Amino acid sequence: MKFPPAAGNSGSSIPNSRNLASVPIPIAPRASHAREVESLYHSAFPCLLPSTPLTCAMRKRFTAAFCAAIVVVVFPLNVSLAAAGPATPSLIAKAHSQRVSDTDLAISGDLAGLPSGSARYLSREDLLTLPLVTYSVTDDPNFLGPTEITGVLLEELSLALSGDPAADLVVAVCDDRYHAHYSRAYIADRHPLLVLKVNGQSPDRWPKDAEGHGQSMGPYMISHKRFDSNQETSTRHEESQIPWGVVGLEFHNEGSFLAAIAPRRSGSDPQVQAGFRTAQQNCLRCHNLGEEGGQKARHPWLVLSAWATAAPEHFATYVHNPQAENPHAEMPANPNYDQATLQALIAYFRTFQLPEKP
Ligand code: HEC
Repeated sequence: MKFPPAAGNSGSSIPNSRNLASVPIPIAPRASHAREVESLYHSAFPCLLPSTPLTCAMRKRFTAAFCAAIVVVVFPLNVSLAAAGPATPSLIAKAHSQRVSDTDLAISGDLAGLPSGSARYLSREDLLTLPLVTYSVTDDPNFLGPTEITGVLLEELSLALSGDPAADLVVAVCDDRYHAHYSRAYIADRHPLLVLKVNGQSPDRWPKDAEGHGQSMGPYMISHKRFDSNQETSTRHEESQIPWGVVGLEFHNEGSFLAAIAPRRSGSDPQVQAGFRTAQQNCLRCHNLGEEGGQKARHPWLVLSAWATAAPEHFATYVHNPQAENPHAEMPANPNYDQATLQALIAYFRTFQLPEKP
């Protein structure tokens, strides 16, 4: 199984929606596809699709206020954290119930002392009171050269904010509805941090995005210390999750989160499992199944499933090189995905269709 280089993983793979919000979004070229998908759906599974036209739903979803930022934080109870002391209820107590500033960080999911699903907002000043770490990074593709980053470890935030010790998945939510997911294993291996300062500066003085869209990478981004190349660990070959434009964090239970997007059948098939892993690491950042996953793509899981089932060749070509199918495609290409990876994705997405008739 091959994965693309880290650069393809960042939230910057396609322009942030801040740009798109002010410019008419080029959905027209996709509308025909959307209609094709929809009619595929209606003919095959009339009960599965909402009756409103997909293009309309897309527009509505798009123009709606960008959703509250969501980040999920993991909760590894390792020794150093235990030594840092018990959860800090004071940080939650400082949080506002409404956004006060553009630089507030939204927090939601399982928060200490609050009903599940509550949202709160933390100011940058309050985040700066937490224990900070500073790294010199050389291999984060969001920066053009060696850069000093300062921030709070996600595990530290989990400890301070999460009400549920089992809330071991942290989701970083970006302003364009791109989501980055941090599993317990990923956090334990790579110790990602919520970046508060770049080269000692606040977000208004951060470098613009490395891909030349001229966009600010604030209010928050996530990065980690250079990955030790001598160290072989379980998440070494996973895609790096280094989004920018992060506006919120969600804290979730990893088990129940993954259960929601688990294959609907053939779960013991290794090919289906391989596709499930790739979908978690890649597709879930922009494509959603209900509440789970990013909504940047505006093509939910069941639409991908319809393509995988009805037009697997189109699906595979699109995932490999979307621009070959549609020059206006915003979806990043996955040039390193081999046939086995593409077929595994197809096998996984097909399980979301109704069982085939005998
Ligand atoms: C960085 C965001 C992003 C990621 C990650 C992503 N997609 Fe997409 N995807 C999009 C967007 C945006 C579209 C809408 C069409 C376009 O602009 O390319 C889309 C559309 C699609 C389509 C519909 C194509 C059509 O003809 O209508 C398929 C199929 C698809 N994606 C599959 C996947 C799969 C499978 C993965 C994971 C391997 C994935 N995508 C990961 C952003 C993404």
